[in-house]
Amino acid sequence: MSHHLIPTYAQLPVTFRKGEGVWLWDTDNKKYLDALSGIAVCSLGHCHPKVTAAIQQQASTLVHTSNLYHIEAQEKLSDDLIRLSKMHSVFFCNSGTEANEAAIKIARLYGTQKKLKSPKIIVMENSFHGRTFGAMSATGNKKIQQGFEPLVEGFICVKYNDVNAIQQIIEQHDDVVAILVEPVQGEGGVNIPADDYLTALRQICDEHQLLLMLDEIQTGMARTGKMFAHQHNEITPDVMTLAKALGNGFPIGACIVANKASDVFSPGKHGTTFGGNPLACCVAQTVIEIMETENLAKNALTMGQTINDTLSKKLHGIDIVQNIRNKGLMIGIELSSNCQPLVQNALAKGLLINVTAEKVIRLLPPLTLTKANSDQIIDILVDIITQQNKQISL
Ligand SMILES: Cc1ncc(COP(=O)(O)O)c(C=O)c1O
Repeated sequence: MSHHLIPTYAQLPVTFRKGEGVWLWDTDNKKYLDALSGIAVCSLGHCHPKVTAAIQQQASTLVHTSNLYHIEAQEKLSDDLIRLSKMHSVFFCNSGTEANEAAIKIARLYGTQKKLKSPKIIVMENSFHGRTFGAMSATGNKKIQQGFEPLVEGFICVKYNDVNAIQQIIEQHDDVVAILVEPVQGEGGVNIPADDYLTALRQICDEHQLLLMLDEIQTGMARTGKMFAHQHNEITPDVMTLAKALGNGFPIGACIVANKASDVFSPGKHGTTFGGNPLACCVAQTVIEIMETENLAKNALTMGQTINDTLSKKLHGIDIVQNIRNKGLMIGIELSSNCQPLVQNALAKGLLINVTAEKVIRLLPPLTLTKANSDQIIDILVDIITQQNKQISL
């Protein structure tokens, strides 16, 4: 362990040496089933041969030029994203937080163009949008913001999955310009809103000329059973942000615009040195091609349902289990108390999971998951949750 790293993460005592598909091997050659995918990143599994080949091929051809010039791979990737999202155009960057910064700047500029002095963006309690100042200020979690005040102004935080709360804010303020929301809250505890929530937000935004800005950084790229989670509602957002699985581990983010957000940015209003370089865009194009040809959205839908159904049956009657929920392969198992220690228990048994919002076991396995993989995840989870239940009731 090095003492030369700034300790921004409380790391688990394991170092991985190699990965293949859903599997990782540590430095002692112990094998683990990765049910977290680097937090919804390696959706095609580790070291997918076609992604590796794309990296190798593009790295030996052209890695970086500059956004001062046309970039063929960037143009092709934007064609793919627009074909899939039916939106208008794309700005590429390197991470989720950067994609959200772009979205926030678009909302501000949209407000300025409407001659508003202090444009406001409605955001949600328990949301997560990233760690830069804009994205952190938009995040509805005091723990993440604490100590960094003054935050960026202009965000109004309301309860998630509460349409009335949004309507009230709009009645009280005449300078709201946008709603920024995750279709399913990931970091906040795998919170799945009512089926018609996004449709209602779309209607409100249309009525009041607001931008509907969807943070699909965790929910996007087939994770929930559609290429983008909002497609379950058959709506189109004005702004959508992507990152994570778009590069399967190669850093890339995207801010996609449509409708009234389409013409907000003009030359000089935003920029990036690395964003959208030939290597990143070539990798992302390959990721999309694999997701489409292997119909991974469909696999996410079926495997997610299988895991939920089987876990619900096997954990039935276990006192500490409060709720099991999923949208595709975004799965939350909510327990009655803090379940952080279960991460170590799972690790010991060769399974990588995560706990979020203290009480929610979160699973974000690769979308290539097989039935045999899911059986293994279920067996280990049932074992450690049952053990935990016994200990608590002693
Ligand atoms: C919904 C959501 N938005 C934004 C981010 C920030 O993305 P990044 O860590 O790539 O900056 C995350 C990361 O977990 C996320 O889940």
